[in-house]
Amino acid sequence: MSGLAIRNVKKSYGAVDIIHGVDVDIADGEFVILVGPSGCGKSTLLRMIAGLEEITGGEISIGGRVVNNLQPKDRDIAMVFQNYALYPQMTVAQNMGFALELAGAKKPEIDKKVGEAAEILGLQPLLSRKPAQLSGGQRQRVAMGRAIVRDPKVFLFDEPLSNLDAKLRVKMRAEIKALHQRLKTTIVYVTHDQIEAMTMADKIVVLQGGKVEQIGTPLELYDRPQNVFVAGFMGSPAMNFLEGKLTGGDKPQLTLPSGQQVELSQGAAHADGRDVIVGIRPEDLAFAENGGLPATVRVVEPTGSETHVALEVEGREITWVMRERADLTPGQIVKLSLKSPNVHFFDKATQRRI
Ligand SMILES: Nc1ncnc2c1ncn2[C@@H]1O[C@H](COP(=O)(O)OP(=O)(O)O)[C@@H](O)[C@H]1O
Ligand SMILES: [Mg+2]
Repeated sequence: MSGLAIRNVKKSYGAVDIIHGVDVDIADGEFVILVGPSGCGKSTLLRMIAGLEEITGGEISIGGRVVNNLQPKDRDIAMVFQNYALYPQMTVAQNMGFALELAGAKKPEIDKKVGEAAEILGLQPLLSRKPAQLSGGQRQRVAMGRAIVRDPKVFLFDEPLSNLDAKLRVKMRAEIKALHQRLKTTIVYVTHDQIEAMTMADKIVVLQGGKVEQIGTPLELYDRPQNVFVAGFMGSPAMNFLEGKLTGGDKPQLTLPSGQQVELSQGAAHADGRDVIVGIRPEDLAFAENGGLPATVRVVEPTGSETHVALEVEGREITWVMRERADLTPGQIVKLSLKSPNVHFFDKATQRRI
């Protein structure tokens, strides 16, 4: 059993509270991603799991054993950092085997484990090179190899792909996911990039300001965000938001600040009478058959597979992702339907899902 339990974990630097009591359960073999904007405390939390940062309050267990007072080397974890931290004077093989050597392993055993990790990561042809002779993606793979040879209970990753260009990031994302499917080791992975979180995780923990906003599978967070923050953070292009008052009972209508009224799907009836924030994802907009919300086309961006249209509604920008090829021109006024069954309703005061 090598799951993790994070119980009411807090961190303060002097009088400044950074992590405000975080609870997360991570099952054995689960791939969990901590995601949130820069400065929300992701690295601090990961470093507390690793033992590189003292815990101000609460408890962390790995494999059922409380590790609060254990040294990093006694926690049976391996950490991969954004900057790889490879030894420049050592070859790839030496970099990968170094931790085993320090732990007193014999050469045949080190060679065997390094060979196996190199095989998994496609690094055999590079074993005698120095880090300076490798591309960014290859260095990243060596850093992962160094973690794999130690056969830890838990892998900890802190933004491991942030230094790579966009194309390589996509490739490494798939490699890390495939690696997890093969090794089935518990992973806790930190990123600010919600796409990385969506594409790789079994379970996502969304953090903001040192607090957990929501925990769920990628599609749970996408389909049922529990508050406006999660709704706006997960998904790209981001969810559109409109504020207004809901009326009409079984024929729900949203009244915008200007007095403009728009029909909504029947699913809105449960929020009747409230001041709301309505959230609609860019792919859930459509042309209205009659009535509809007037919107001015500002920018049309064809991506080939779809068209991204920036529109203005009452001074707010909203985005429409059209699957079909759009024949729209800047300045044109279109009528949008908000009658999608996938519209989200949040209480304006509490920002919580209704
Ligand atoms: N050693 C430190 N002393 C004081 N504040 C710190 C220290 N390390 C991090 N912080 C603060 O803690 C907050 C969370 O930092 P961090 O965990 O690095 O965020 P993230 O990884 O999510 O970007 C930030 O506001 C940061 O300024
Ligand atoms: Mg960080």
